[in-house]
Amino acid sequence: MTVQPEIRVLKTSQELFDAAAAEFALQAAEAIHARGRFTVTLSGGSTPKSLYSLLATKPNIPWDKIYFFWGDERHVPPDHPDSNYRMADEALLSKVPVPAKNIFRLHAEEKDAQAAALQYEQTLKDFFHLSPGEFPRFDLILLGLGPDGHAASLFPESAALNETHRLVVANWVEKFKTDRITFTFPVLNAAACVIFLASGAEKASIVREVLENNSANLPSQKVQPTNGRLIWLLDAAAAGNLSRRG
Ligand code: 6PG
Repeated sequence: MTVQPEIRVLKTSQELFDAAAAEFALQAAEAIHARGRFTVTLSGGSTPKSLYSLLATKPNIPWDKIYFFWGDERHVPPDHPDSNYRMADEALLSKVPVPAKNIFRLHAEEKDAQAAALQYEQTLKDFFHLSPGEFPRFDLILLGLGPDGHAASLFPESAALNETHRLVVANWVEKFKTDRITFTFPVLNAAACVIFLASGAEKASIVREVLENNSANLPSQKVQPTNGRLIWLLDAAAAGNLSRRG
């Protein structure tokens, strides 16, 4: 791993989500001060739900200047229990005054997952006014850590790991026998800041593998912002196997 990650270990999961919410609010304020807007990519899975619920209770967040995207989505409609959009909407977006035009949902209800990926790719190109070959620079990308070391829906031994041109692709995940739609590494690594959130003892061994075993060759280890920060926010349980702690 070449980018030196900033590893922060918080005593409890509550302190972890408090720290993540504070970092979100700080980065939002800085981006809006500098550029008038904050572009953030939300993660799916279960871990960030507590962060989203906490953010929904925070006063003084300029929701009208924050633009929401998803780093990956399951190939399901937005009302499906597995939908990452649904989780974020229920925990946060439906509870705060964010204009609907600021929410860029990935239309994973499309039967053809590749078509959904192409559509979202075009959404990114339009929003960031990208020229051919250019990648969007998100202010913040939130990621969880999969038990197998996957990030977004970039799973071990999956085709999307080697994608160097596309922004968003449909990625067949053999173990789930389904397509996921996911940002590619070039998009993740073009961000100004990437935050990995991991909580709980069940993540301790994979956290150690990713952060301390340089030959593990795990997808999460390829998340290395070329000109940005890489932050790992962990609770003590998830950091339990680390020999070095932050
Ligand atoms: C998803 C996520 C995925 C997730 C990890 C961790 O759609 O599932 O984007 O990358 O972050 O699988 O999931 P948990 O937080 O549930 O452990």
